[in-house]
Amino acid sequence: MIYFDNAATSYPKPRAVIRETVRTIKKCGGNPGRGSHILSMRAADKIYECRELLCDFFSFDKPENVIFTPNATYALNLAIKTKIKKGSHVLISDMEHNSVLRPVSAACEDAGAEYGVFTTLSPLSSIKRKLRDNTDIIICNHVSNVSARKQDIAEIGRLCRERGIYFIVDASQSAGHTEIDMTGCNINALCAPAHKGLMGIQGAGFVILNSADGLDEFMQGGSGVNSSSVKMPVFLPDRYEAGTLFTPAIAALGRGVSFVKSIGLSEIEWQERILTEKAAEMLKSIDKVRVFSEGVGTLSFVSEKMPVSKVAEILMKNGICCRAGLHCAPLAHKALGTYPTGSVRLSFGYFNKHRELNVLWQALKEIKNG
Ligand code: ALA
Repeated sequence: MIYFDNAATSYPKPRAVIRETVRTIKKCGGNPGRGSHILSMRAADKIYECRELLCDFFSFDKPENVIFTPNATYALNLAIKTKIKKGSHVLISDMEHNSVLRPVSAACEDAGAEYGVFTTLSPLSSIKRKLRDNTDIIICNHVSNVSARKQDIAEIGRLCRERGIYFIVDASQSAGHTEIDMTGCNINALCAPAHKGLMGIQGAGFVILNSADGLDEFMQGGSGVNSSSVKMPVFLPDRYEAGTLFTPAIAALGRGVSFVKSIGLSEIEWQERILTEKAAEMLKSIDKVRVFSEGVGTLSFVSEKMPVSKVAEILMKNGICCRAGLHCAPLAHKALGTYPTGSVRLSFGYFNKHRELNVLWQALKEIKNG
């Protein structure tokens, strides 16, 4: 089996991540922050350790501002819905996933706010053209899950700082693949899943907030502190972490981050770049195939000879896992001109081997012949 669907979730996981998950279940099985016994304390330590690892990894200095969530969608919902207010004007990029588009649309409708879309082909000039006096939030997909188009978040962050605009970055496809400097890029809220480039398991994600100032509450419930109050604590991370956390998935994330650090982002990026470029070259040599390869790790293609679902079926018959359709990113497909049918997506990871591309080439011959 050949796995070219790393944009959906990375596979396989490093052995150390699997070991850490099992070890945490066995040895740190208490409820974090809900007791002072040894198992509860060990679980709390695991979680704090992961907050520190993430801060170090993303160049930020407040571990308590790392909020754990079940996935990146939840993290984005949290960042978006606690910030959008009546009268807000939000700008989102034309490569956003539904995990941004849908909560922005819903929150604007609920709050009495508005949003617009800027193009990522010339983001700065597009943003400047669309800015209004009341523009207070910009949300940007760092790397597209369809074509790997990458945004210069340092440049957009600078503009946000100059204009006092809150900057939310969706790093779902970039965290663990490329360098992200939260402080240097003036990011106010950095959102990512654990189970993609950071090599964790499904069930965890996070948002790192530079501050909780001016943000609304999101969800209420037990926090393990101030239990006699009907109000959520105002301090981080407790304000946004109602209920029991998913300790094994958080411990796995911490181990995943350490794994990525031990390999090195430049090595990972280099490996994924070679695979992407070779696959793009193969696909471009096939008549009547359009290729959308704009960066590292992920590319899309469409064949004029057969529907995307049929292409995915042929790839699967040859043992290749990929994803076909809209990839939950209708905006991106509109920008690329592949809406509404979508594309076939191949997404590579650190564990893919160059020889796996030979199998892809064999499978593509069937597609070539229609
Ligand atoms: N957002 C993930 C993807 O692009 C699930 O496949």
